[in-house]
Amino acid sequence: MTAAALAPATRLRVEAINTYYGDSHILRDVSLEIGAGETVALLGRNGVGKTTTLKSIVGWLRPRTGSVTLDGRELVGCDMMTIARAGVALVPEERRIFTNLTVAENLKLAQVTARAPGWTLDHVYEKFPRLRERLGNKGDEISGGEKQMLSIARALLQDVKVLLLDEPTEGLAPLIVREVESVIREIKAAGITTLLVEQNLYSALAVADRCYIIDQGEIKFEGTPEQVRSDEELRRRYLHV
Ligand SMILES: Nc1ncnc2c1ncn2[C@@H]1O[C@H](COP(=O)(O)OP(=O)(O)O)[C@@H](O)[C@H]1O
Ligand SMILES: [Mg+2]
Repeated sequence: MTAAALAPATRLRVEAINTYYGDSHILRDVSLEIGAGETVALLGRNGVGKTTTLKSIVGWLRPRTGSVTLDGRELVGCDMMTIARAGVALVPEERRIFTNLTVAENLKLAQVTARAPGWTLDHVYEKFPRLRERLGNKGDEISGGEKQMLSIARALLQDVKVLLLDEPTEGLAPLIVREVESVIREIKAAGITTLLVEQNLYSALAVADRCYIIDQGEIKFEGTPEQVRSDEELRRRYLHV
């Protein structure tokens, strides 16, 4: 067992947030709830407000109205550093790793800058065998899938309570997508509360406990993966699949 696996899970609640870019009103009363230790998917087409939702949670953008709470503690108005210290980590689409450092150095750096110890390096190597083989490679010498795993591994080394993943399977080969899915299941097994943003519908349905669909900045559906799988009309209307 790791420290992260023993830590109590955390509940994230987004209530009626309205987020703008300048004058453009992007998120309209978006509400989501991710129960302690749950893996929830936020699905939707390109440009509908998925990334804006994640940025509103981590304080990158400040919702004009509404609330985001972590076990009841208000996050709206807190700066990004405070929210990160509370244990909320965003793994953005543009996988942020240090390309001039090796995989091993990227991992070590995550460990030394952590607010509290999370997974151990041994645990990371066990769950990400592909990274272990690449320890001596620089960040710009590894594949897209390896970069994705490295950025997730960096978050796990930092004792994250809530992990926000922005399209983790985007641009990856099918075999690597399966590996990322298995990593997401490990994260769930470790008790980490996860919000997974995906355009890759079937990948999200394979790992999520519940899902939401967002369209034009509004939540249009909340339900189970099974409901999304069986509702062709819903998928056609909001997901184009
Ligand atoms: N920096 C920005 N400035 C202005 N508008 C933006 C910016 N980023 C995104 N948007 C707009 O906000 C909407 C939602 O974007 P986003 O949340 O990135 O969508 P998604 O992640 O679902 O593809 C889009 O219409 C997009 O054009
Ligand atoms: Mg996006």
